[in-house]
Amino acid sequence: MNHLPKFHSKVFLAPMAGISDSAFRLLCVEEGAGLVFTELTSIHAIDFMGKQEEKYLLNFVPFSEKERPLAVQLFGSDITLTKRAAQIVEPYFDMIDFNLGCPAQHITAQMAGAALLQKPEHLEKVLSALVSSTNKPVSIKMRAGVKNVEKEGKLFLRIGKIAEDVGVSMITLHPRTVDQGYSGKSNWSLIKELKEKVNIPIVGNGDVRTPEDAKKMFEETSCDYVMIGRAAMGNPFIFKQTNNYLRTGKYDAISSEDKRKEFLKYLNLAEKFNVPFAALRNQGMNFSKGMQGGAQFRVKIAKTKNVDELEKVFSNY
Ligand SMILES: Cc1cc2nc3c(=O)[nH]c(=O)nc-3n(C[C@H](O)[C@H](O)[C@H](O)COP(=O)(O)O)c2cc1C
Repeated sequence: MNHLPKFHSKVFLAPMAGISDSAFRLLCVEEGAGLVFTELTSIHAIDFMGKQEEKYLLNFVPFSEKERPLAVQLFGSDITLTKRAAQIVEPYFDMIDFNLGCPAQHITAQMAGAALLQKPEHLEKVLSALVSSTNKPVSIKMRAGVKNVEKEGKLFLRIGKIAEDVGVSMITLHPRTVDQGYSGKSNWSLIKELKEKVNIPIVGNGDVRTPEDAKKMFEETSCDYVMIGRAAMGNPFIFKQTNNYLRTGKYDAISSEDKRKEFLKYLNLAEKFNVPFAALRNQGMNFSKGMQGGAQFRVKIAKTKNVDELEKVFSNY
């Protein structure tokens, strides 16, 4: 098992496709996220990029040094390609995370993401190959099961044990099933069960919306770290708030002006990282949530057609 890097705090930013681009991750790190992850990245694409000049890979998974520690998240199911992808990304990232949680049909149809939960024997080979092909720590991020946690015999515990035995260094659990998508509630009691079953650090994830929720998750599950996804969208401040709350029991509220300025900063940073305009506008929508007059403001954001217009709308807010 390879040692984990030193984390700035116990609160991590979740990998989120279309959201956790390099510019957004940087803002979250500045606000105190302890670890950030790239969006999920295909082992096939990495393998292809690895055969080109380095600049293509760096363009495909952009990042900056200031984000460290930084994990790259891979998905796939082919053993040889997983190994090759790990060797290609290893020099650039501090950790390699393997996705066992994505419920999207185009991913599960390839028997990757959360679908791999159903193939523990194959998964063991993939994880074993991954760990042995890199000197960087490997983590996994999984859901609790596919359709029904109990009827499936608590797959997540079996997979947690497999991961520990092959040398995985950390496990994130989002305790919903694949079928659940984002409906219902994240069943935190399963995080506690996993923590009791294995002896490697556990990251609790799912439905942490406030600093108070984060504290509650630590207390209820004894997890080592907490990961925040949707509540960080348009709100990198949640990391500072949570760190402060965990330390002092208090945190400052965020104003519309804080959010406005933060989004302009995001736009400025995003220029360097080839973030497509549709994603920028979507981030703008997320930042506008909780701002005064947000609903009317969003109508203006929706009408923007390029970065200049988007910047202008936020500058004139
Ligand atoms: C827009 C979006 C994109 C996501 N993309 C990824 C991804 O690339 N990899 C991954 O492991 N999970 C992904 N997730 C799942 C989150 O990492 C996280 O597990 C989930 O949102 C639950 O945490 P939350 O309740 O704090 O949002 C995504 C979630 C959202 C909302």
